[in-house]
Amino acid sequence: MTDIPKIQKTILNWYKQSGRQLPWRQTTDPYKILVSEMMLQQTQVDRVIPKYYAFLEKFPTVNSLANAPTADVLTMWSGLGYNRRALYLQKCAQAIKGKYDGKFPETTEELLALPGLGKYTVAAVQSFANNKDIVVIDVNIERIFKRIFYGKIESAEAIAQHILPKNESRNWHNALMDIGALFCTAKNPRCDICPVKQFCTSANNKERIEATWKKKNVVPFKESDRIVRGTILKMLTTQNGQDKNAIYEQLLQRNIKREKEKFEEIIAQLEKDGLVKKEQKILSLP
Ligand code: ADE
Repeated sequence: MTDIPKIQKTILNWYKQSGRQLPWRQTTDPYKILVSEMMLQQTQVDRVIPKYYAFLEKFPTVNSLANAPTADVLTMWSGLGYNRRALYLQKCAQAIKGKYDGKFPETTEELLALPGLGKYTVAAVQSFANNKDIVVIDVNIERIFKRIFYGKIESAEAIAQHILPKNESRNWHNALMDIGALFCTAKNPRCDICPVKQFCTSANNKERIEATWKKKNVVPFKESDRIVRGTILKMLTTQNGQDKNAIYEQLLQRNIKREKEKFEEIIAQLEKDGLVKKEQKILSLP
C-alpha cells in the first residue's frame, strides 16, 4: 500500500488531462448536481445529457421544481425510466423550499434527512457540489478498488476512505467514474490503455476480472412490471386522463401483454406510489 500517493497522483493527473467534460461537471450548484445524480442512477450518461439540459431549463431552481405540477415533472422525466425518482426529486425540492427557504442545506446530516436522499446520493452531492472529503462508492468505484487491490483488502469501503486525497474529492470521484466507464468496465475492461494498470493487481488477469463482476440482480417479474409501468406513464404524459380499459387495450396493441389481474395490480401500485391518480375509471398524472 506504499504506492497510495503515486496512485492518487496518477489518477488525478490523468483526469486533469483527459477526463470527460460532462455538463454537471461545469457547475457546483448542489441542486443541479442532485438532478444529475438522480438521472444517472441506472441511466447511461449519453441518454442523461439531453434530459439534464431540458429538465434544468424547465426547472432551473429548487423552488421552480417544488412549485411545478407533478405531471410536468413526470413529463420532463419521460424516457429516463424509474419514474418514482422524479417524484422523490420533487418531494426533496419541496422539503428544501419548506424547511430551508429553497437554499440547499450543506451538512450531511441535513441532507440525509431529506426525502429520497440516501447515503450514495448525499455523498455524491457533498463531493461534486461541495468538494467535501467524503467517499462516494457506487458499483463502478467498488469494482475499481476490488481490482486494483485484489486480495489485499477486505472491502472497497476499507480502502476508499484511506485512498481519498484531501481536498480533491470532486476531481477524485469524477476521475474514478471515468475510469470505471472508459477502462475498468465490468466485462472486457481495457487494461492495456488504463492509466492505473501499473498499480492494478488484476490488470489483464482474466480470473480476477471475472471474480469482480457484480452479477446483476435481475428479478424478471419486477423488471417486466417496470416496462408496463413506464409505458402507462408515457401514455399519460402524451395524453393526460385516459380510461383504464383503453390503456389496457393500447398495451395489448403494443404487444405488452399482461393478464387483466396483473394489470390491475400494477395500476394499484402506481396509485400507491403517487405516480397516477384514478377517478372512476380515468387515470391521470398527479
Ligand atoms: N454516474 C453517476 N454519477 C456520475 C457522474 N457524476 N459522472 C459520471 N457518471 C456518473
